[in-house]
Amino acid sequence: MSAGSTDQFGRRIEYLRISVTDRCNFRCAYCMPLEGLPWLPREDILSYEEITEVVRQLAPLGVSRLRITGGEPTIRPQLSTLIAMLRAVPGIEDIALSTNGVKLPEMADELKAAGLDRVNMSADSLKPERIREIARRSLKFSPLDAASAAERAGLEPVKINMVVMRGINDDEIEDFARLTIDHPLHVRFIELMPVGEMANLTFEHVVPSDELLARLSKLGALAADAGPARGNGPAAYYRFAGAPGSVGVITPMSHTYCGDCNRVRLTADGRLRTCLYGEEEVSFRDALRAGAPLAPVYAAALASKPKEHALLQMRVGGLRALSQVGG
Ligand code: 5AD
Ligand code: SF4
Repeated sequence: MSAGSTDQFGRRIEYLRISVTDRCNFRCAYCMPLEGLPWLPREDILSYEEITEVVRQLAPLGVSRLRITGGEPTIRPQLSTLIAMLRAVPGIEDIALSTNGVKLPEMADELKAAGLDRVNMSADSLKPERIREIARRSLKFSPLDAASAAERAGLEPVKINMVVMRGINDDEIEDFARLTIDHPLHVRFIELMPVGEMANLTFEHVVPSDELLARLSKLGALAADAGPARGNGPAAYYRFAGAPGSVGVITPMSHTYCGDCNRVRLTADGRLRTCLYGEEEVSFRDALRAGAPLAPVYAAALASKPKEHALLQMRVGGLRALSQVGG
């Protein structure tokens, strides 16, 4: 096993997020416009072979954990084929998937069989009518059914991500938190970030994690927790006494966690981005298609990974859509 790569600030980079498509079957207002975005042409998108080649070249450089994202990754055909190809790469220890969950009931078993370890699901409401309002698509879908399908398939620990928006869905944070008392689910509350068409409204709707935790602690004592065993990213975790699950907060807006950042991102069209919110990127696709090795390109990219994001200083509208940069 290699010693791994560190960036200019000594952070070990071991986690690669791979976006397999920029498209989605939802249109969450905090993420993408209702009419969609100018989608990437097919020939610009990395093939499964190309994605696997990127991972094969980065694994000896210290990348051992992968997350498949989008857009919505489950709408790219034959996703389980990619999972199986990635599973076979030496040095890859953990493969997770981020999904809105719509396709989990039909796909969970197949994904598990292909070698997927676990899933993170998005769920911003438990109310069908409100789910339709937030996702702006009328798909038949129950987040709890999706979570159960993942659990039954053994895609554990199952994490549920809720983007909390004041006046839109924050009246449900207690209901989401209670799920962790009854089920082995790990619910993470994410502070709304200034993206796309909701960017101007972010500061009106963001619920800082300190306020959220104060509200949740009225349900019962919350103790700081190590969180689910695998794949803890930037979340800080808590647990209600005796609960099988945990609650977590992800605080891009109120507390920075950039000092512990261990990740880089591959966009669907093969750009390596070293920070979600920064502009720093290099094209792996051009190198791959020219037959050039990725290691020097990767080293140069890590050397320019920013110390922290500038989200709070960012001009309104700074980020167009998280679906374009792999959530
Ligand atoms: N603010 C916070 N999280 C976001 N996501 C997308 N857009 C935003 C935003 N503006 C994240 C959430 C969501 C996933 C699809 O991407 O985690 O559940
Ligand atoms: Fe799709 Fe996720 Fe964006 Fe919603 S937030 S539109 S589910 S990619």
